[in-house]
Amino acid sequence: MANGKKVGVLISGRGSNLAALIDACAADDFPAEVAVVISSRPDAAGLGFAEKAGIPAVALDHSAFDGREAFEAELDATLRAHDIELVCLAGFMRLLTTGFVETWRDRMINIHPSLLPAYPGVNIHERVADDGVRITGCTVHYVRTDMDNGPIIAQSAVPVLSNDTADTVAARVLAAEHRLYPLALRMVADGTVRVSGERVVFSGAETEAPPLFSPQPTR
Ligand code: GRF
Repeated sequence: MANGKKVGVLISGRGSNLAALIDACAADDFPAEVAVVISSRPDAAGLGFAEKAGIPAVALDHSAFDGREAFEAELDATLRAHDIELVCLAGFMRLLTTGFVETWRDRMINIHPSLLPAYPGVNIHERVADDGVRITGCTVHYVRTDMDNGPIIAQSAVPVLSNDTADTVAARVLAAEHRLYPLALRMVADGTVRVSGERVVFSGAETEAPPLFSPQPTR
């Protein structure tokens, strides 16, 4: 939506969540617009989604900078040059310093492919498949210095089936991510959610959803 909150999306790779956010922002009533996409890797396939949508796409090769602070100073300057109000991390593979995280505190969100606080870190779907858990999912949260930490905005749960592999779990979770991230961004951008005391509070009614059973009861 033109006149929606200006969003900067940070990526490092494939960019499928970026594509979902761009699609969502194309709706007339969506309260945000992707105003710049920045990749920490010049070869990130996701940059193509931005270019196709006519959104400024900036490659900031982190390895070309003299340290993390120098990289982040350029990141910050690029976001400010585009009047960015909200930052979405979408598969952004760089750890951010406390300084950068605090600068964007409560204005920067991330998507993680597990039901946090379970399964932070990497190789999530391998661990989920190995552990034999029956339900996993994805989480959108405000970013704090500790990785995969921060007030939780929204989560989506999906079943794990007994013949699943890490790849099949990943595909099921990714489909949920593509629905969840736009939903969470909408709520952040229109003020439905905000942070209070390191918890997310909602203005307006939340509706109760039916419980997810896995396996599904047959009677
Ligand atoms: C997603 O699974 C996201 O949850 C995680 O990194 C992956 C990025 O995928 N943080 P894509 O680049 O959005 O396709």
